[in-house]
Amino acid sequence: MNQAVPSKLPHIGTTIFTVMSALAAECGAINLSQGFPDFGTDEHLAALAYAYMKKGMNQYAPMPGIMPLRERIAAKTEALYGYSPHPETEITITSGATEALYAAIAAFVTQGDEVIVLEPCYDSYMPAIELNGGKVIGVPLIAPHFELNRVALAAAITPCTRAIIINSPHNPTGAIMSQADMLWLENLLSNTDIILISDEVYEHIIFAGTHESVLKYPRLAERSVVISSFGKTFHITGWKVGYAIAPAPLMREFRKVHQFLTFSTATPLQYAIAEYLQQPERYLEVSSFYKQKRDTFCQLMQATRFSLMPCKGTYFQLANYSAISSEPDTTFAIWLTKEIGVATVPVSVFYRLPKQEHFLRFCFAKTDETLERAVERLAKL
Ligand SMILES: Cc1ncc(COP(=O)(O)O)c(C=O)c1O
Repeated sequence: MNQAVPSKLPHIGTTIFTVMSALAAECGAINLSQGFPDFGTDEHLAALAYAYMKKGMNQYAPMPGIMPLRERIAAKTEALYGYSPHPETEITITSGATEALYAAIAAFVTQGDEVIVLEPCYDSYMPAIELNGGKVIGVPLIAPHFELNRVALAAAITPCTRAIIINSPHNPTGAIMSQADMLWLENLLSNTDIILISDEVYEHIIFAGTHESVLKYPRLAERSVVISSFGKTFHITGWKVGYAIAPAPLMREFRKVHQFLTFSTATPLQYAIAEYLQQPERYLEVSSFYKQKRDTFCQLMQATRFSLMPCKGTYFQLANYSAISSEPDTTFAIWLTKEIGVATVPVSVFYRLPKQEHFLRFCFAKTDETLERAVERLAKL
């Protein structure tokens, strides 16, 4: 071909997570950038996966996921949120939350539809909306505590609004939606056909109160696709097993996309997770595990000049560095990786139009030893 291939996403490059992880590896920096644990998963869970492989569970799973896993998710959802999705028609196992997000957006967003995202937001939302002909409408959360901007969200709704994407606990800020936010949202959306896509991948990593799942609110649940991921809950981000819950009419459309996106998700991994979920303490104890990590990290960071924001959920800690530098956050993050040897993610990349607020995101899903070594370096600043 003589001409450049026209890009469907001309302004998108390699994600910042890949860039920062590659830079960290190149510079031998401690990687607190990408959101994955540097410790292993439970050996019992790994053994289950191997056992199911040896048992011969190695062919395609059913398109919506294996029934035992869907049944366990239904039971967990009922126990935690008082909502009982039908395993047959209202739950689909996906190849991570990323696939579920894409399938939900592709199923419901058509040319010219507006989709509201609350910025800063996880990086897959906006490209998925654009690839499906939708228009991204960004509504910023209110810094520095990143609360929902109710006035701005209500004002952003138009007759073209097809969907709103929310995420609580929130990556990258660690903020959470309150019960009052959810009740307000329920009223805002009543008498509309707007679909709510609720990214709840950090549902089991919450430090302040309980998780306000959309599924606790019947008038929201009836219009929502709720998405979660076992990667975050069981320290298995590389397994890429997630799921979506939605009322049957929405799920029917969701599955039409899912079946051609991946068709189905790794069979032995689904069986392993299904068996593991038989013990609720496996997911119920995750919050206290990460709370300890968060507290250790925050305690260590007192020896630095970073100013930490409240972290109410997720395994990310937001830190303001204005006392150290006035450089833009991307410049500062690259400098920090190369010169100090600690990789982070600059928060401006989670916005459509980068903001300059001097925040970095640190991932504390790391061993205490990794966190100690990183903070030792940061304390020199
Ligand atoms: C808010 C949010 N949504 C979705 C995902 C993707 O989850 P998965 O790895 O299961 O695709 C992530 C991963 O970092 C995330 O932080």
